[in-house]
Amino acid sequence: MNILIIGGGHMGQTYARSFIQAQIATAGQLTILNKSTEKAESRADAQIGRVFSRAEDCLSRADLIILAVKPQDSEALFQSIRPLLDPGQVLLSIMAGISIPTIREQLGVEKIIRAMPNLPAQIGRGMTVFTSSDEVTRIELVTVQNVLNATGKTLYVEREELLDAATAISGSGPAYVWFYMDALMEAARQMGFNEGEAELLVSQTFLGALELYQANNTSCPEWIRRVSSRGGTTEAALLVYRQTAFREDLIQGAQAALERARELGRHED
Ligand SMILES: NC(=O)c1ccc[n+]([C@@H]2O[C@H](COP(=O)([O-])OP(=O)(O)OC[C@H]3O[C@@H](n4cnc5c(N)ncnc54)[C@H](OP(=O)(O)O)[C@@H]3O)[C@@H](O)[C@H]2O)c1
Repeated sequence: MNILIIGGGHMGQTYARSFIQAQIATAGQLTILNKSTEKAESRADAQIGRVFSRAEDCLSRADLIILAVKPQDSEALFQSIRPLLDPGQVLLSIMAGISIPTIREQLGVEKIIRAMPNLPAQIGRGMTVFTSSDEVTRIELVTVQNVLNATGKTLYVEREELLDAATAISGSGPAYVWFYMDALMEAARQMGFNEGEAELLVSQTFLGALELYQANNTSCPEWIRRVSSRGGTTEAALLVYRQTAFREDLIQGAQAALERARELGRHED
C-alpha cells in the first residue's frame, strides 16, 4: 500500500518512522509531502520515505493519504489538493478539531477516517481514538487500524463527538500525568532528595503502579485500599487530597479540555 503523509512535522515523522519499523510500508511505499522540502529532509533520517514539496508530484500514487498539518494550515492545503484527489483514495486526518463533514465539504471526498493520537505514539505507546465516514469499507477500516496500531493502541468509536472526549482524556492526558509527576518531584526535592533522585523515585513509582495495575484485574480504588492502612501514611495523604477536592479538580480539568476541544471544532466549522 502506498502511503502519503502530508505534513512532515512531529506527527508526520513519528508516523513515517513507526510505519517503517512495523513494516506497514517500505521506504519505497512511503512519501511525505511538506511545505518546505529542506525542513522535512533535515529533520528526517533518509530511510523514512521520499520527501516532496509539490502535491502534483506525489498525490496520485497514494492509496492512503494522511493529513498531518496544523489545523490552521488545513484550508490552504485543502484548496491546493482538492483538484488532485481521486474518490477511491482513503483520507486519514489527525488534525485536531477538523470534522469529517468539513473535510468532506472542503475536499469533495467521501472515504474519510478521523483519528486523535497522542504524543507517546513517538515511542509506539500511543493511544489513538478513531472514527470514519460511512463510505469507508470494512476492509479499508481494518487496514487503517493496522496502520495506526504501529504507533500504539487504538479504539474505534462510532460517534464522531467522542473524538473531542478522546482529545480531553488521552490526547491531553499525558500532560495531566506529567503535571502530577512534577508536583510529586517537587515534594521529593523539598524532603531532601536531589533532582535525579526525585526523578527516579517518581518515574519508577508511576511505572510500577501502572504495570501492577495492568498485570492484575484490580480496580484503582481497590489498589488504593490495599496500600492504605488505617491511620497510616497513605491515608494521611489521601485525606488531604479529599479535603482539597483533588479528584474533582482532575475531573473538572478534563471537562474544561472537552469544552475547549468542542469550541475549537465549532470555530473550524
Ligand atoms: N503533536 C501531537 O501530539 C498531536 C497529537 C494529536 C494530533 N496532532 C495533530 O497533528 C497535526 C500535526 O501536528 P505536529 O505537531 O506534527 O505539527 P508540526 O510539527 O508543526 O508539523 C506540521 C507540518 O505541516 C507542514 N505543512 C504546513 N502546511 C502544509 C502544506 N500546505 N502542505 C504540506 N505540508 C504542510 C509544515 O511544514 P513547514 O514546517 O514547512 O511549515 C510542518 O512540517 C496537527 O493537526 C495536530 O492537531 C498532534
